[in-house]
Order: sequence, then structure tokens, then C-alpha cells
Amino acid sequence: MPQPEELARRTFITRALTAGAVIPLGSFTSLLSEASQPLKSFKPEDWVKDAREQLPATGQSTYFQTGGVGLTPTHVLDEVSDRLHFQNQGPADPRYSPEMASIEPTLRTYLAEQFRVPKGGVALTHSTSEGISITAWSRNWREGDEVVISNQEHPANVVPWFVLRDRYGIVIREIDLDSGTDLIGEVNSVLSSRTRMVSLSHVSRNNGRRLRTADCAELASLLEANGTMFHLDGAQGPGCVPMDFQALGCDAYSTCGHKWLCGPKGTGALFVKPDRLDELQLSWAGSHSHEDLDYAGAYTLLPTAARYEFGTRALADFAGFQSAVEWMEGLGWDRVLGRVQGLVQHAVDRVREQGPAGLSLASPSSGADRSGVFVIRLPSRCDATDVYNYLASEQQILTSPVRREGDLRLAIHFFNTEDEIDHALDAVVSACTSNR
Ligand SMILES: Cc1ncc(COP(=O)(O)O)c(C=O)c1O
Repeated sequence: MPQPEELARRTFITRALTAGAVIPLGSFTSLLSEASQPLKSFKPEDWVKDAREQLPATGQSTYFQTGGVGLTPTHVLDEVSDRLHFQNQGPADPRYSPEMASIEPTLRTYLAEQFRVPKGGVALTHSTSEGISITAWSRNWREGDEVVISNQEHPANVVPWFVLRDRYGIVIREIDLDSGTDLIGEVNSVLSSRTRMVSLSHVSRNNGRRLRTADCAELASLLEANGTMFHLDGAQGPGCVPMDFQALGCDAYSTCGHKWLCGPKGTGALFVKPDRLDELQLSWAGSHSHEDLDYAGAYTLLPTAARYEFGTRALADFAGFQSAVEWMEGLGWDRVLGRVQGLVQHAVDRVREQGPAGLSLASPSSGADRSGVFVIRLPSRCDATDVYNYLASEQQILTSPVRREGDLRLAIHFFNTEDEIDHALDAVVSACTSNR
């Protein structure tokens, strides 16, 4: 009779193969041969059609809300469910627990490889916000210490700083990251000997601006020389734009699995330069943050970023996170990211054609600053929340208003199509023309 581990492996593997996914290497070493099989080769559009079949929501609505909350392929959800049932046969039973325990180390190593994070630099979190908060609370803040954020941040990279301001009297400096401003010049204009942290969106959820990697690397050197920590909020980063942690040069990078990486909700990661671990101090800690503990007062933290994790964890979700990223890797990062850029170029061209109808670009016009977060500026008489409501309730087109009044966001992922973009822009024009 097959052992439970054997059975569980078979289910996961069958599902992964049915879904055309790359088989997770992790603990499935006996399947290395299958894992090295070439993927089914897709004609240009077929691979997108195939992917859309794995994302049933694409048949329910025109989905431009990946920037808010992403879609997850069916086989990933099945894997989460399988893992939960597998674990539930005996969470403390040695026939099941080692397999479950291997999920997190395997995922940390895998994410490190995918996003060029040095060994030991990955902490698994439950959201981008968690990574931001770990970073924000990592310093011994004193009254008058300064942090730099921008005018294009998500509340997740604003609220923690407001709380720290109210609690410790830190000073928040805001720079202007509208499309076309000079990142280095902006930071230089507010940098002082009291600046202890710069925390900016890698890709803004408000105007879609992507910080260029070379600019980030230059900023990282400038900040290091000033003794300032550099954090990037990467909620809209991996899966949306190319992401190379080492090339960016930042000290810490917070991201999530549940938007552009198509992972389960409640998954995320914090990437940290290993030589900054001791500087990025723990504010929350607990069982599993430590390597040694003698109960008499002595303890040693883990030597890796896993020290930021503690307590009992949602292991099945993390298995799903890995499966989702493997699916995207299997589709091909170049193909996925290239398609996002191609679709955004199409959207840019269409908005330019719609100039006479009063639409314009709020996102950067230069390709090097663009991302899948595509934002249009509506005619002045047109209210973005009204348009958003109309599109969602009457056209099943899901978009999002953003911080600036009159701007509307279409988060364009690889599974979207040119027809969907055309249809959405026509619907926007019609909503604004009829002055809803
Ligand atoms: C730039 C940015 N940062 C942070 C967040 C919050 O992400 P999470 O839900 O993973 O905490 C979002 C969510 O939309 C975002 O766009």
C-alpha cells in the first residue's frame, strides 16, 4: 500500500502535469526527470488562451484589477487544498510533518533564485504591508529622525510612518514622483544627516511609474554613504516588471504573492541584504525566530531573514505561492513581461487616439518608466469613482480609481488582451461622454 507521502506526491504531481505547470523540484527529487521535460510549446496566442483557462475569472469579467488583488490559477488552488488535506491527516505525525516543514525553506530558496536575493535574505510574510511594517519598526527611532516617502505611495507605505511620527516624533519628508521627475534630485533635495530611511514604491500603484534599476542602484550608493536605509515597496513589482534585488541595490524589498505573481491571498516576502540583518532589528519575534534559547535569558537569532518569521504558519498557502511562481516561470518571464509591455504600448496608442475625447495618459510615457500599472486621466467633467462603478456594475470591467482625482487605473497583466483594452477604453469614453 502506498505510504501517505507517496499518495500526496502523486496527487500534486498529477495536478501539476495536467495544468501544464513546471513540477516543483523541492522535495520531489524522484521526479527530476519529468521536471526537466520541455514545456508544451505554445503558439503566441495559444499560451495566453491556455493560461486564461487556468484563470476562470477571466471568463467572468474583464479583469484589470491585478494591481488590487490578483487572479490565481485553478491548479494552484487545488495544490493548496491538497496540502491542507495532506497536513490534516496528522499535523504532528512524522509521516506528514517533515514534508510540510520543507515547504518554507524550499520556497525561500526558490524565491531567492528567481529574484536574485542573496542566500539567507528571504523572509516569508503574509503581505507586502507586513514586510513594510517589519522594516518601518526596525529602527530605534528618536524624535527628529527623518524618513523619505513620495506623493505616489499606497497607504501601506504611509500609515506606518504616520504611526511612528505620532509615537516617536519622526519627521516625514515627501518627494514628488509624478511622471518625469528626477528621482535622485528629489531625494537629494530632502536628504539630511537625520534621514534614517527612504521608503518608496518600486512601481507606484497611483501612476504606474517604475523606478529604473540604474537609478535605484545609484540611490542605494548615495544612501549608504549617508547611513540611510533604503527600502522598496514591491507590491506591484515581481511579475509586473523585471525584478532583480541585487541590481536594485536596496537594503530591503517588500512584496506579495497575491497580485502579479498569481499566488494565494495572504502570501508575501521580505527580501533583505544579509549584511543588514542586524541593523534591520526585530520588533516582533517568537518561536522559530531563534536558533538557540536557554530560557535563562540567552538566545541567538537565526542567521537568516527567516528570523522575521515566527509562530505557526500557513504552510499550504506558501506551497501555493511556490506553485504560482513556478507556473509563471514555466510560461516564461520574458514572454510574460514582454507581453505586459506590449499590451501597455497598445493601451498608450489607443489613449493617444482618444485624445479628442478628452482622455490622456497619467502613467509615464517613456517605456523605461512604464509598468503594467496603466493609469489614464479622464476628462475634467468625468468622476473616476463614477466611471469605476459604472464599468464594474454595468460592463463587468474591473478597474480602480487611484489617489489623484480623475485618474483611473487599468492593471494590465499578460492574460489580458488587446480587445479587452479597446473595449474598456471605449466604455470609459462612452461613460464620460454620457456624463454618468
Ligand atoms: C504599492 C503598494 N504597496 C502595498 C500594497 C499593500 O499590499 P498587501 O495587500 O500585499 O499588503 C499595495 C496594494 O495594492 C500596493 O499597491
